[in-house]
Amino acid sequence: MLFNINSITNSTKIYKLMSQTIIPRPIAWIVTKNKDIINIAPFSYFTGLSSNPATCIVSIGHKGDNSPKDTLKNIRDTKKCTICMVDENFLEAMHNSSKELPSTISEAEFFDITTKDFFDDYPPIIDGVKVAYACSLNQEVDIGGKTIPIILNIEHIFVDDKIIDENLNIDFKPIARVGKAYASLCNLKTLKRV
Ligand SMILES: Cc1cc2nc3c(=O)[nH]c(=O)nc-3n(C[C@H](O)[C@H](O)[C@H](O)COP(=O)(O)O)c2cc1C
Repeated sequence: MLFNINSITNSTKIYKLMSQTIIPRPIAWIVTKNKDIINIAPFSYFTGLSSNPATCIVSIGHKGDNSPKDTLKNIRDTKKCTICMVDENFLEAMHNSSKELPSTISEAEFFDITTKDFFDDYPPIIDGVKVAYACSLNQEVDIGGKTIPIILNIEHIFVDDKIIDENLNIDFKPIARVGKAYASLCNLKTLKRV
C-alpha cells in the first residue's frame, strides 16, 4: 500500500502507520513538578538529539479538551523536567501513568509511584530507576501542528552504579514502544569498526 500523507485527514491513521514502523522507540518517563504537584507521564516520540551539546527531543500533544498536556504546561512554566528511563520493573507503573488525569491530581499519589528528590533543583526521580536525566528547556520547535517538539538540554545523567563500569560500559535493559505494545531488547549484535 502507498499512502499520501497529505491526503489522510484522520491523524490516527498516520499515527498507526508511523508508530508501528518507526520502532522500537525509547520511552521518556517524564517527571515535572508545578506548585508542589508531581506529574508523571510517558512519551515515546522521544529520542536523543545530540551528545554535543547533550540534548534530547520529545514531542508532546494536547489533552482531549485541547489544553496542553500537563507535562508540556509544566515544562513551559518551570523550564525543567526529569526523564526516567523505564526497565521491566516499571512497565506497569509507566503504562498506568499515561492516564489522563486533571492537573491537580498527581500520578505519583494516584498510582502510588514512589519518587525521591535526587538532582538539586529538578523534579524528583522515580525511586529505583537505573537511569535518569535532569533536563532544562532549550526550545520549542514550531512544526505547525498540535504536537509540540521540545528540545531539552541534558544537564545531569544518573546511571546506577550496579549497571555501569569504570570504562562507562552500561548494561541497561530498557523497555521500548512498538506500536501499542512494549518490547525488550534482544539479539544485540556488535560489528567490527570499519
Ligand atoms: C508508552 C507511551 C508513550 C506515549 N507517548 C506519547 C508521546 O510521545 N506524545 C504524547 O503527547 N503523548 C504520549 N503518550 C500519551 C501520554 O502519556 C498521555 O497523554 C498522558 O496522559 C500525558 O500526561 P500529562 O497530561 O500528565 O502530561 C504516550 C503514552 C504511552 C503509554
